[in-house]
Amino acid sequence: MKPRKITNQIYWMGSVDWDRRLFDSLIPLPDGTGYNAYLIKGSDKTALVDTVDPAMANELLYQLEGVDKIDYIISNHAEQDHSGSIPHVLSKFPEAKIVTTTKAKGMLIELLRVPEESFITIEDGGLLSLGDKTLKFIFTPWVHWPETMVTYLQEDKILFSCDFFGSHIATSNLYVIDEGRVYEAAKRYYAEIMMPFRKIIAKNLKKLEFYDIEMIAPSHGPIYTRPSFIIDAYRDWIFNAPKNTVVLPYVSMHKSTKLMVDHFVAALVERGIGVDQFNLVVTDIGKLAISLVDACTIIIGTPTVLAGPHPLAIYAAFLSNMLRPKAKFLSIIGSYGWGGKTIEVLSGMIPNLKVEIIDPVLSKGLPNESDFKAIEHLAEIISMKHKEIDIK
Ligand code: FEO
Repeated sequence: MKPRKITNQIYWMGSVDWDRRLFDSLIPLPDGTGYNAYLIKGSDKTALVDTVDPAMANELLYQLEGVDKIDYIISNHAEQDHSGSIPHVLSKFPEAKIVTTTKAKGMLIELLRVPEESFITIEDGGLLSLGDKTLKFIFTPWVHWPETMVTYLQEDKILFSCDFFGSHIATSNLYVIDEGRVYEAAKRYYAEIMMPFRKIIAKNLKKLEFYDIEMIAPSHGPIYTRPSFIIDAYRDWIFNAPKNTVVLPYVSMHKSTKLMVDHFVAALVERGIGVDQFNLVVTDIGKLAISLVDACTIIIGTPTVLAGPHPLAIYAAFLSNMLRPKAKFLSIIGSYGWGGKTIEVLSGMIPNLKVEIIDPVLSKGLPNESDFKAIEHLAEIISMKHKEIDIK
């Protein structure tokens, strides 16, 4: 794809990765992704904001063919999907300087073996003049790594946010057209990438309140011409109370746990509580992550295998612990044959979650009437707990 003009002397460059289905060998990409770089031509100097995944370096080099000179490569984030083509760009423009944070400089040297003399480091709030355009660097740690920053183009009021506000979507749309589609992708992205650092990201959001932003140009997904759409979404995900929902990742081997799950879901629905139920054998783990953004309660459903939880349930607990959602309550339902330490193992796996653990309910073999009553009681307790903290 050729460079695409955004506005006066500002161009999108980059590549759309239609076929990629996994990020960091971990995160599902059902809609592919893209890596956006941006070229800013000032009256005196030219800057390239971020680069692309090294697998796509040739596309960026093709787009740069008509560019005479790059003075600065702005590196907002050291992860290779944005920095990995810096060595290729430096080969073509050896006089270019990489402008970044001190922390990112160290990481880029370690990750890419870029020579130290290629760097200019900047401070939080630092300015860089391109002549008639001025870049301001705003440190925003942990969007997604500790060294991350965003770049604000003062005259055009564009925020180049790199991972912050990004979405994994392969699209030919330069701008957000379908907000509903982008909302889901951005929420998935937030859940998987940003949610673990929610409290720090809250501070970064507040920091951006001082800027007049007319456009947000992330390095994944389309550009926001209505910044309030994504900023308000982030505010909801970060600051608002959880919603009256239960997220229920489960796995069942011989249907006992499934029967417990079905009965439990019906009991919750009767009480007006929403449920997002995920069979871990077939689920897209990103959908589970999305549901964790809002859920007030997490319930893990598992049979007992070799004296402990099923490995897929362990994965769900581990993932929930890593992502640190704002859930308030957690419990376990499931089944066992003759014994085991399912509850102890799962309960010990969630130290990051600030949740109250509600008494689990496990059936011995196929659930009977008393098990179903116990599961209804659990649904009732959850309903009461939600009401007690004003979640309706
Ligand atoms: Fe898109 Fe953290 O890299």
